[in-house]
Amino acid sequence: MTEHKVRISQRVQRIAPSLTLAVTQKAARLRAEGVDVIGFGAGEPDFDTPDHIKRGAEAAMARGAGKYTNVAGTTELRRAVADELNRAHGTHHGEANVIVSCGAKHSLFNLFMALLDDGDEVIIPSPCWVSYPELVSMAGGTPVILETRADEDYRIDERALAERVSPRTRAIVLCSPSNPTGAVYDAATLDGIARAVRDRCGPDTYIITDDIYRSLVYRGEWVSMARVAPELRDRILLVDGVSKSYAMTGWRIGYLAGPRELVAAMATLQGQSTTNAAAIAQAAALVALTGPQEPVATMRAEFDRRRKTMVARLRAIPEVKLYEPAGAFYCFPDLRHYVGRHGIADDLQLAEWLLEKGRVAIVPGSGFLAPGYARLSYATSMANVETGLERLKVALAELL
Ligand SMILES: Cc1ncc(COP(=O)(O)O)c(C=O)c1O
Repeated sequence: MTEHKVRISQRVQRIAPSLTLAVTQKAARLRAEGVDVIGFGAGEPDFDTPDHIKRGAEAAMARGAGKYTNVAGTTELRRAVADELNRAHGTHHGEANVIVSCGAKHSLFNLFMALLDDGDEVIIPSPCWVSYPELVSMAGGTPVILETRADEDYRIDERALAERVSPRTRAIVLCSPSNPTGAVYDAATLDGIARAVRDRCGPDTYIITDDIYRSLVYRGEWVSMARVAPELRDRILLVDGVSKSYAMTGWRIGYLAGPRELVAAMATLQGQSTTNAAAIAQAAALVALTGPQEPVATMRAEFDRRRKTMVARLRAIPEVKLYEPAGAFYCFPDLRHYVGRHGIADDLQLAEWLLEKGRVAIVPGSGFLAPGYARLSYATSMANVETGLERLKVALAELL
């Protein structure tokens, strides 16, 4: 029987599938066939969720917490989120300023849906996380890409930003530490961005700070935009979550803090779509935020060890250029020297070739709007970092 062809909506046809997932899936397929592949594709910590958090979830189940909660999240969790974000950003948010969603990705989805009308623009510095442009497009908005460069430490130039501003600009998205580059914005860069927004944008333009990797900084210090530009606090939307800091990617808890009206609009949308984030996961996130923080420091120290090894080994490969990442858990080497040779036309083909010939899975830079680059995650064991980088070196040597 031939299957009836389904007519898929234009809205969904416009969305590009995630390249990060594509590589991870192909690597998984090869592994299932018995091929020993080392994966550098992971966008999540390889550590397990700390025990005390798991126990918190068990206790929540035992006391019968598995019911609907307030759409925006339980009062306890929203208060804990507000406290934690106020500590980090010097803000004065209360529970009414916070909405909990099914991961920070969902927070961003709801945010763009609540903020954007068709044709509204969102400025996204690139290289950028795969999902920002797609999320903006899904909400009917237009992503406006602002390129940044490795040899300028991926800093955002105030004037270049001002040039991208138009009367339709509704937001600029900042991700520090950055996925994929690992760059962390310093106070001077944030100050320049704040000045451009203050001087060139109307009152309806927001700064979205995606701080999901905030606890994973190894070099320099993480700086809050809300502290650099307190006069813009009402226009700074904080996106954060427990996924990366507490190794809780699968629990799906993320949150946003911002003006009450915006949070209420997002809650209306969430109330008619997904309702509350899973109640037991919310209880676990509460334990994560209010319980002992040592596991975060332990994971950070281990990530840093691997980061140093990966940086040294990547830099030892001929013709590979690498900006030294300061945060998150990714290296983003420039592999352009290896593209355009031996029939390898682009970074997608290079990633395929490395997977088949070198048995290493990397994510092509095109997915982050940086063709010729690649993202390698060090959220994997030190042994994998060492063996995988050796494989990469040997494979790339064939292309020299
Ligand atoms: C920059 C960035 N923001 C947000 C997220 C979303 O995190 P989650 O939806 O798991 O909370 C990710 C996950 O990969 C990310 O890399």
